[in-house]
Amino acid sequence: MSIYFDNATTAHPRPGEVIAAIQEAFGRYGASPGRGGNSMSTDSSRVVFATRELIANLFHAPEAERVIFTSNATFGLNTAIKGLLQRGDHVIISPLEHNSVYRPVRYLQHKRIIEVSEASCCQEGYIDLHHLQTLFRVNTRMVVINHGSNVLGSVQPIREIGALCRNKGAVLVVDAAQTAGLIPIDVQKDHIDILVFSGHKKLYGPPGVGGMVLGGDLQIEPLLQGGTGSRSESDMHPGFYPDRLEAGTPNTPGIIGLKAGIEWINYQGMEAIHSHVMALTSRLLEELRTLSGITIHGPKSLENRLPLVSVTIEGEDPAETAHRLDRDHGIMTRPGLQCAPMAHKAVGTFPQGTLRFSPGAFNTMQDVERVVEALMSEK
Ligand code: ALA
Repeated sequence: MSIYFDNATTAHPRPGEVIAAIQEAFGRYGASPGRGGNSMSTDSSRVVFATRELIANLFHAPEAERVIFTSNATFGLNTAIKGLLQRGDHVIISPLEHNSVYRPVRYLQHKRIIEVSEASCCQEGYIDLHHLQTLFRVNTRMVVINHGSNVLGSVQPIREIGALCRNKGAVLVVDAAQTAGLIPIDVQKDHIDILVFSGHKKLYGPPGVGGMVLGGDLQIEPLLQGGTGSRSESDMHPGFYPDRLEAGTPNTPGIIGLKAGIEWINYQGMEAIHSHVMALTSRLLEELRTLSGITIHGPKSLENRLPLVSVTIEGEDPAETAHRLDRDHGIMTRPGLQCAPMAHKAVGTFPQGTLRFSPGAFNTMQDVERVVEALMSEK
């Protein structure tokens, strides 16, 4: 039996309820929501709206209309960054950003539209809040923060950062790709203006669906204009949410799968899932610490940490080790830079990157034991 230990990339397996819901979506909800006005289309609209409500409750959004569906977190982050920043604005990011933040920000910087500063972080992957504070300028419009690092596993104190941004009058965008569904987030109490989530990682939905939750009252410019099923008589794209940021036919089966994923989390209990994956992570860390020649990167403690472990092995290329673990032991991991090169530069693992183990809700302690045994037999 193979072991999937790459849940930071995408959750696998999906709960059976998610697969069943997607299957049902192609039957009961086959018509497009908001288009057609026929009874099946109305049913589809209802289920899409029910998903917005579920997400609004999960993240304490002011209203369900402030939940925007996108094709993935990358689209949401691009929309937040390119839909708000204007010529002359200054933005603060951190070294932990994924390329889905880093690249759009660098693109605007190279076009000489915005200025960018980077807050520093320590070796464990926590942002230096004192340094962050010194970076604000009069033209600082936005701070984009990676909530949980997909490389190091460090989880940032977003409420504290949110209060700082509120105080300085900057918009806070939180990339919650690795945390939404795993760690409680409250966009109002955490002072988050735009929360961006991925549907297929810790929310256990399918790929192809993600979104934004708007905590504040911002007028974000859409990246796309087109059909919304609303105000069709007008040649101008609607200005109200969610239609303002949702052009084109939505991914109804994806949204329905996401709904089932969130219902599954609510049924299991987010805390119970978190305890399980952190117990696996704790055991993995404990065992890895006993092996010689392995360096564990990221936080030393389990506090404010994701269920992932990034390591380097003396004299080994992470890609080669990952290949051997897969080929010889059926263990699937993700080696390399994990689309976040700056995080590796910050801790000295660039350009080869690390070997990343990321257990999920369906992994067991036996899986951890097998991974450790495989690593021992490799040495
Ligand atoms: N960003 C995802 C990862 O960390 C895909 O693997």
